[in-house]
Amino acid sequence: MKILVTGGLGFIGSHTVVQLQKKGYQVVIIDNLSNTTLDVLEGIVAITGQPPIFEKLDLKDKAAVQNFFKSHQDIQGVIHFAASKAVGESVVNPLLYYENNINTLVYVLQELTKLKSSNFIFSSSCTVYGQASTMPISETAPIKVAQSPYGNTKQIGEEIIKDTCQVYPKLKSIALRYFNPIGAHESSKIGELPIGVPQNLIPYITQTAIGKRAQLSVFGNDYPTIDGTCVRDYIHVVDTAKAHVVALQRLLNNENQSNFEVFNIGTGQGSTVLEVIKAFEKVSNTKLNYKIVGRRPGDVVSAFADTTKANNILGWKAEYNLEDAILSAWKWQNTIKQD
Ligand code: WQD
Repeated sequence: MKILVTGGLGFIGSHTVVQLQKKGYQVVIIDNLSNTTLDVLEGIVAITGQPPIFEKLDLKDKAAVQNFFKSHQDIQGVIHFAASKAVGESVVNPLLYYENNINTLVYVLQELTKLKSSNFIFSSSCTVYGQASTMPISETAPIKVAQSPYGNTKQIGEEIIKDTCQVYPKLKSIALRYFNPIGAHESSKIGELPIGVPQNLIPYITQTAIGKRAQLSVFGNDYPTIDGTCVRDYIHVVDTAKAHVVALQRLLNNENQSNFEVFNIGTGQGSTVLEVIKAFEKVSNTKLNYKIVGRRPGDVVSAFADTTKANNILGWKAEYNLEDAILSAWKWQNTIKQD
């Protein structure tokens, strides 16, 4: 069975390709290589021994998207990762984000609605909840006004899919709202490859520990949390990847209750920034150089998932804990070529 993975050479995409291949799916990857390299394809093949079909294609090119689907009529499901994801960049260049994340989604959906049936998994984010008023956050929590154009593309993306599903009953879709995916494959052959200075906590920590960055700045210790630093739900990327496979299987087996469903993908466990640093120091046996600085604008105080819905309905549960995930990220950091 042939599955299309857009953005399949990205961080979560590449790990999902590995899990799909392990389950026997034939994978077709589309990627425009804007934020990754072909080395990732080699990493995937090194793990699974199976070369996926790869097409370098930019989903902003509507004619190319149409041609792609014309020549791949046998695609049974689409997992759509391709998108830009840097929150700060999206504030500076909103139209780039609306074009990259919204136009592309529309073009893919337009092709799917021409098919007799289609199954679509969308990468959404816990960012849609903003600062939720109760923890853990369940899927019924209200959607808050987006704090950035990036966050808005996830909200609008979900709405576009929902509206489309309403008029195309043969289109079945699941949006997965990820909390904070981190870590790397146990083989250290694929992992996160931030370009330039990392914006996210874990790559910043591992790059500091390896000597590529001088010091980690901890953004604020005056939040109303146990140690004053922000709380997040860090989920191993391999667990995140597996969630996509079970979500896809639910659609392929017609087990879905409606043709648009949403699920939180997290561990259910919140950790503060200082707890993450302690966990890193423990698993790496390294002292991390960090200092407390002011708050980062736009950060919510706390976000961790109620995973009951994914546990009960998808039959999916995170298997790795924070230390496992951090250790895998550290091993990966020690493997990748330094620039
Ligand atoms: C985690 C915590 C920071 C860096 C973002 C996006 C979200 C998403 C995942 C994307 C926060 C603190 C960080 C640093 C720090 N989706 N921190 N020093 O902001 O929860 O989520 O990435 O694709 O949509 O918003 O993740 O890793 O940036 O931050 O103290 O150098 O670490 O303040 O509390 P975030 P993060």
